[in-house]
Amino acid sequence: MANKLVVGNWKMNGSRASNAALLEALKSLQPWSCRVAVCAPFPYLGETALSLQGSSIAWGAQDCSAQEKGAFTGEVSAGMLSEFGCTYVILGHSERRQYHAEPDALVADKAKVALAHRLTPIVCVGETLAERDAGQTEAVVKRQLSAVIHGLGHCISQIVVAYEPVWAIGTGRTATPEQAQSVHAVLRSQLRAATQKAGDMALLYGGSVKADNAATLFAQPDIDGGLIGGASLVAADFNAICRAAG
Ligand code: PGA
Repeated sequence: MANKLVVGNWKMNGSRASNAALLEALKSLQPWSCRVAVCAPFPYLGETALSLQGSSIAWGAQDCSAQEKGAFTGEVSAGMLSEFGCTYVILGHSERRQYHAEPDALVADKAKVALAHRLTPIVCVGETLAERDAGQTEAVVKRQLSAVIHGLGHCISQIVVAYEPVWAIGTGRTATPEQAQSVHAVLRSQLRAATQKAGDMALLYGGSVKADNAATLFAQPDIDGGLIGGASLVAADFNAICRAAG
């Protein structure tokens, strides 16, 4: 796909003051030739929306409920996110799968609800180090993506997929461009079997993407951009990654 996508995943970081400074800095650095978005913690979405509206930077959240509404204490619905102008919602991040025991089928249900509220789900898949060492990488990512394909049917073409090897997240240990490309190729062919639009879908790589490794990752034929954690918290670093996607 021609126009790459770079998404910042702030995770549970930031404060009202530091977010305002980061967003001001990013606005002063725009535009980029790729599409750019930031995914903020829930309480900051309102201020993020106010800051970014009218800019070239889209925004989103890091999770949503699979339920529409009701007695689900602590949950946030897709409808609420869309009310705050979110374009994206990250779903099935490995930290959600690991710390909140989110199964594949729940991630698929969340993606369905998100699409119903016109949010673009960024569905994360990825293997742990133990799974990679056991030669299970392909089977794991295929199983994770297959649940979403099964849940969404032909609407699968409306999602973004992020391949994030768990062993590369926040560790400084990036997958090599060849390792990442080979998994992306597997995912692309799995998507091809499900939709004719697979070639137009954005497949992002995430896991210790930095200014100095972004360009080679993004040069791979099936890598359409990145999901950026740590480096998205520093305007100059995030800017450099967005430039590398241009
Ligand atoms: P990282 O995180 O860039 O800090 O490795 C990526 C992610 O978890 O989305």
